[in-house]
Amino acid sequence: MCTENLPYFLSGLVVKGFGRGSKSLGIPTANIEDKVVEALPDDFNTGVYYGWASIDGNVYKMVASIGWNPFYKNEKKTVEVHFLHKFENDFYGKLIKVTFLGYIRPQQDYTSVGELIKAIENDITIAEQQLEQPQNKAYKNNKFFTE
Ligand SMILES: Cc1cc2nc3c(=O)[nH]c(=O)nc-3n(C[C@H](O)[C@H](O)[C@H](O)COP(=O)(O)O)c2cc1C
Repeated sequence: MCTENLPYFLSGLVVKGFGRGSKSLGIPTANIEDKVVEALPDDFNTGVYYGWASIDGNVYKMVASIGWNPFYKNEKKTVEVHFLHKFENDFYGKLIKVTFLGYIRPQQDYTSVGELIKAIENDITIAEQQLEQPQNKAYKNNKFFTE
């Protein structure tokens, strides 16, 4: 696994995904616009990451998934960010800034939606713990989020 690209910073507009995140998983995700996905370095591994993401000037913990979502067999590569915060409204069309700090695991196929949800819940637990580490927590105040 290659971590040379980390930490990685990106910003992009939130676009509509397939709409399954909230509905069938109960885990809403912000899908990033295509041109930003296409601009990822070629050697940027697909998989699940933790880091920080900002929306409307506030910075939150996040877990993100990059790839083709093997469970759903998507034909298009996506970057999806799940904020570890509950929002009242969705934010299609807004700009989010994201920093990827650590790699958790590759994307996998699962035998049921329940298994996928369990895996994501475990990712969230890992992210919560990792982002409390001082070297990771420091990125919450990185100038990238304020400039
Ligand atoms: C932390 C996290 C981990 C994920 N891991 C996987 C995975 O291992 N395999 C997979 O097929 N999809 C994975 N996904 C993607 C979900 O399948 C995806 O969010 C869901 O299909 C909703 O997509 P949509 O918003 O485009 O409808 C993950 C998503 C998140 C946020």
